[in-house]
Amino acid sequence: MIFTLPPLPYATDALEPVMSRETIEYHYGKHLQTYIDNLNRLIAGTPYEEANLEEIILNADGPIFNNAAQAWNHTFFFNSLTPEHTEMPEKVRKAIERDFGSVETFKEKFQKAAVDLFGSGWAWLAKDKEGRLHILQEPNAGNPLKSGYKPLLTIDVWEHAYYIDYRNKRAVFAEKFWEIVNWNKVAERLECNCCCGGGKSKDVQKTEMSDEATADEDKDADEAKCR
Ligand SMILES: [Fe+2]
Repeated sequence: MIFTLPPLPYATDALEPVMSRETIEYHYGKHLQTYIDNLNRLIAGTPYEEANLEEIILNADGPIFNNAAQAWNHTFFFNSLTPEHTEMPEKVRKAIERDFGSVETFKEKFQKAAVDLFGSGWAWLAKDKEGRLHILQEPNAGNPLKSGYKPLLTIDVWEHAYYIDYRNKRAVFAEKFWEIVNWNKVAERLECNCCCGGGKSKDVQKTEMSDEATADEDKDADEAKCR
C-alpha cells in the first residue's frame, strides 16, 4: 500500500505554548512526511508493498523497519496530544496506581525514562499481555510492538521534537508534556482489544497471498485504531 501523511487532529498552533507551530510544522510536516516518503520508496517492489504498517514493523529490519516504525511512532505521538485539558480517566488512574504506586510516581519515572535515554528515541507507557503497565525506553525508531507490548502513550525525545522550543532542555519538555497529553486517547488504547501488541509475528508473505480482502481491510482498520 502507499502510505500517506495521517491527519493532524488539531491545528498546527493548537499546542502552543508547550509545542510551537514551528515545531509542529517541522516535526509533523517535514520529519514525519520524510519517513513516509522514504518508506514508500523502500518497500516498492518488495513483499512489504502489500503489508500494513504493523506487519512491516513486526517483520522488517534495517531501513524499512526504521522508516515504518518512525511513521507509526510519530502518528501515535501526535494522536496522543490535544490542546484541550483532559483529566485522567478512572480506569487509567487505577491501572497506573496498581502498577506504579501513584500517578506522581508514574510521571516521575516516565519523565526520567525520557530524560535518561541516551541519544535519540522514545519513552513509552505500554501494556503487557497480562494487562500490566510498563515504562519502556526505546532508542532510535524502537517500538514496543516488536517485543509484544501494546503502546498506550509515548514521548518523542529526538532533538527535533523539542530543540526549537526548549533547545537542550529535554527535561523541561518532558515536564511540560503532561499539559498536552490526551488521557482520553490513552484510556481508549487501554480498553481496546485490537490485536496490536499481542506479540504475534505476522507473516508478510502469507498476508500477501491472502485473497480475503475484506478480512484484511477490517484488520487494517482495527490495527489503525492502535495508533
Ligand atoms: Fe520525531
